[in-house]
Amino acid sequence: MSVDEMHGEPVPSVEVPSQELPGSIRNLGPVAWVREPLDDAVGGRRQVIAPPAAATIGTPAHGAKAALRAELATPNTVFMMGDNPELPRMPKRPTLADFFRLRFDDVSRSHMLQSAKIAKERGLGEKVIMACLLHDVAVAALISSNHGYWGAQLVRPYVDEEVAWAVEKHEALRYFADESVGYSYPEAYIAYFGADYDPPEYIHREHEAARRHPWYMTSRLVTINDIYSFDAAAEVDFEEFEDIVGRNFRQPEEGLGFDGSPVAHMWRTMIWPNNFL
Ligand SMILES: [Fe+2]
Ligand SMILES: [Fe+2]
Repeated sequence: MSVDEMHGEPVPSVEVPSQELPGSIRNLGPVAWVREPLDDAVGGRRQVIAPPAAATIGTPAHGAKAALRAELATPNTVFMMGDNPELPRMPKRPTLADFFRLRFDDVSRSHMLQSAKIAKERGLGEKVIMACLLHDVAVAALISSNHGYWGAQLVRPYVDEEVAWAVEKHEALRYFADESVGYSYPEAYIAYFGADYDPPEYIHREHEAARRHPWYMTSRLVTINDIYSFDAAAEVDFEEFEDIVGRNFRQPEEGLGFDGSPVAHMWRTMIWPNNFL
C-alpha cells in the first residue's frame, strides 16, 4: 500500500508482489489469455484474449494487459475476434434457450431454473415465474456488479415491463427484510459480505421507492424465491418453462443480438465475450 498524498488515504498499489497472489493466479500469468493454435489447424494463429476492464480493474490481472498487448509482436499472433473455439458455437438466430444452454454458467443456470421452479410450484403468476427465471441473467454471462439493472436492461424489450421492473428491483430488495411476507435478510449475504455490511445510499433509496410501488410484491416474490440453499445436484430443465417463456418472452425473429434493439449489443457481448472490440 502507498499513501495518496492529496488525501492522506491509503490507496492500493497496482503492483502486487507475485508471492502475495493466490497460487492459482500466480501460476496462471498471461498464458491464461493466449490460445495456442491446435497442432492440426491449417494456418492456425495464436489468439490473444484481452480481458474486459470491468473484470480486471483493481486486480493484479489488470497489469497483465500490457504483457498481452506485447504478445502481438510475436509472429502469427492476433487478438481474439469472432468465435472463440473454447466456447460452444451459438446458432445464427439465438433464442433465450440457447443462452441458457450454451452461455450461462452452471451455477447461475441452475439457480435461476430452481427459483422459477419453486415459484411455479407455489402457484405464483407467470410474471413472477418469468422474473425468477431471468433475475440473475446478467450474473450468468455478462457482469455481476449492479446485476439487477444490467439484467433488467437485457430483457426489457422482450418482456412485460413489470417483469423487467421486478428483475431490476430485486437487487435492492434482497438487502432488506420484510417479515410481513416472510422474507428475512439472507444468511448467504452474511457469509458473502460480512455481518456488518450496509449497502450504499442509492440502494437504500431504491428499496424505499420500490416498497411504495404498485409492483412491489412482484419483485419481492423474486427475492422470496431467490434461495441459495438449493440442491446443486437437482437438474431443472429449461424445457419445463418453454410454454411460459413462449407466452412471456417476445423472442425476436432475427435472434437475440441481431434484432437492432437498444440492447442487442449486450446479447452479442455474451455471444462473443472475448472479442478485442
Ligand atoms: Fe440477484
Ligand atoms: Fe438470485
